[in-house]
Amino acid sequence: MCGIVGYAGWRDAQPILLDCLKRLEYRGYDSAGLAVAGTELQLFKSAGEIAVLEAAMPEMKGSVGIAHTRWATQGKPTTVNAHPLADCSNRLAVAHNGIISNFMGVREELQKNGHNFTSDTDTEVFPHLVEAEFKDDLVKAVQKALEKVDGTYTFAVVCAGCDQVVATRRESPLVVGLGEGENFIASDVTALLKYTNRMIYIQDGEVVSITKDSVKIVDGKGNEVRREPQKITWNLEDAEKGGYPHFMLKEIFEQPDAIHDSLLGRIESVEAEPFFQNEHFSTVKIVACGTSYYAGLVGKYIIEELARIPTTVQISSEYRYSSVSRENPLVVLITQSGETADTLGAAREAKKRGNKTVGIANVIGSAITREVDHTIYTRAGPEIGVAATKTFTTQLIALYLLAMELGTQNRSLTAQAKRSIVGTLRNLPRSVQDVLNQASEIEALAKKYSSARDMFFIGRSINYPIALEGALKTKEIAYIHGEGFPAGELKHGPLALISRDSPIVAIAVKDHTYEKMLGNISEVSARGSPVIAIGFEGDTELPRYVDDAIWIREIPPMFSPVPVIVVLQLWAYYLAKARGCPIDKPKNIAKTVTVE
Ligand code: F6R
Repeated sequence: MCGIVGYAGWRDAQPILLDCLKRLEYRGYDSAGLAVAGTELQLFKSAGEIAVLEAAMPEMKGSVGIAHTRWATQGKPTTVNAHPLADCSNRLAVAHNGIISNFMGVREELQKNGHNFTSDTDTEVFPHLVEAEFKDDLVKAVQKALEKVDGTYTFAVVCAGCDQVVATRRESPLVVGLGEGENFIASDVTALLKYTNRMIYIQDGEVVSITKDSVKIVDGKGNEVRREPQKITWNLEDAEKGGYPHFMLKEIFEQPDAIHDSLLGRIESVEAEPFFQNEHFSTVKIVACGTSYYAGLVGKYIIEELARIPTTVQISSEYRYSSVSRENPLVVLITQSGETADTLGAAREAKKRGNKTVGIANVIGSAITREVDHTIYTRAGPEIGVAATKTFTTQLIALYLLAMELGTQNRSLTAQAKRSIVGTLRNLPRSVQDVLNQASEIEALAKKYSSARDMFFIGRSINYPIALEGALKTKEIAYIHGEGFPAGELKHGPLALISRDSPIVAIAVKDHTYEKMLGNISEVSARGSPVIAIGFEGDTELPRYVDDAIWIREIPPMFSPVPVIVVLQLWAYYLAKARGCPIDKPKNIAKTVTVE
């Protein structure tokens, strides 16, 4: 869960590496470091964010180097454990993203052979392994070293006196950026967009060597690989804040476009993206983590409604413990990054069980897309804020599309129903824009409740998972203890917790659950809790039950999760702002979680 960049070119490497690294800070920010390989290796690292490193580091001369921003997995986030890590002779430096699972045994053996270790990291075995193999060919030495390590990794290696950066990957991301008289490697294309939009995705087991004017890729057997670069259409603007104070707010406001883009070319005809033709699934299993899991829970209601297929939803890390279903379900894996280790593990397990798999992913060419039989891309563009926002709403769009596809295949959707769904989907960007237009009212309300220590979110049916997602956003961004419940469950225990100091956010749109929601709202307000409701415009009854309300334009209830979650994203954002929280980089969490 770290970010790596590498540069070989005609300019000084240090400022370019720092610049690129800052765009990867969302991947981890507990320590950082940079190595420039001139005639000697220059290495500087520090605990803390990249800004700390930048302020303290000396000038380094040389046009080949690597840099790293860390999210600790093995060894505390200290300066000595920061990457890059060097070999005994301080000639080689390595940056690593992932975990070397057999590092203990390898380390012991290297120590027996006289290698000195200075850190507690698993990574440090790698520079020593390369050192032991290195004669005059860095690629060969890296290939040899790889034979000794198990686990997941992206490694980037530089060596004093060499004009190249050598990198490799296994189940962690690695991309090469092609420039003019300069080449780059990075964990993510967004790091490189300022310099190039021509990218080559490196595959598992491949080793790539970049110099200022060459890129050579070899596969696991040492055969040269030729791969055409892909042109990335995201621009730098997409990856920067564009005038917003935080990426999260920018990304919340990008949702009308992101939804529009995700629908583009896909609803003119539902058959536009046909897959698994002539296959019929009697059940669907959705597997995901965190916010993507909550999208999956919404997906259950959508698929059961539109395709009439019983659907279950499971947390990725628990999937392997579930029993093998006799029904041979379609397994849907949702992951914005496409790199979440738990979800990748679940995809492999599903394959082992002989199930057909669909991935819903945002990052093109990410690992999940190679694990599944078919991918639906969410087209949300890069999401830098740690809290998922536009990728959640576009995951919901992908699930509406998937449900329509399944419903069309099994004939549970009539042509008329499809036309009506398509009409509503087309209008969703407008519903979301209506919510965004109320940002200042939502901010004022959030400010009023921002001193709360606990906050409960309730909803029923398809808006129950939205209550869970609202609570998660509030927890992770505003550091308020937020909990989501199906509104009917409060009386089975959680009512014991509520008080005047624990506001309740109630999703009470006019659907088949509305009357029951009013009953549940009465239960909590009778016990003194202030209630903030989210309802449909024009509802004259709801204000009599609640203290405050936020209104959304009425749409068919099955689609209400989209505008409702946008309200709750803004709610969490403004709570966090009022509380002075570091919104784009909440403590202890990283955006891409590549460990199990
Ligand atoms: C919360 C959040 C996380 C992710 C989770 C899965 O705002 O972003 O809960 O949803 O880590 O990540 P992906 O979707 O990349 O698999």
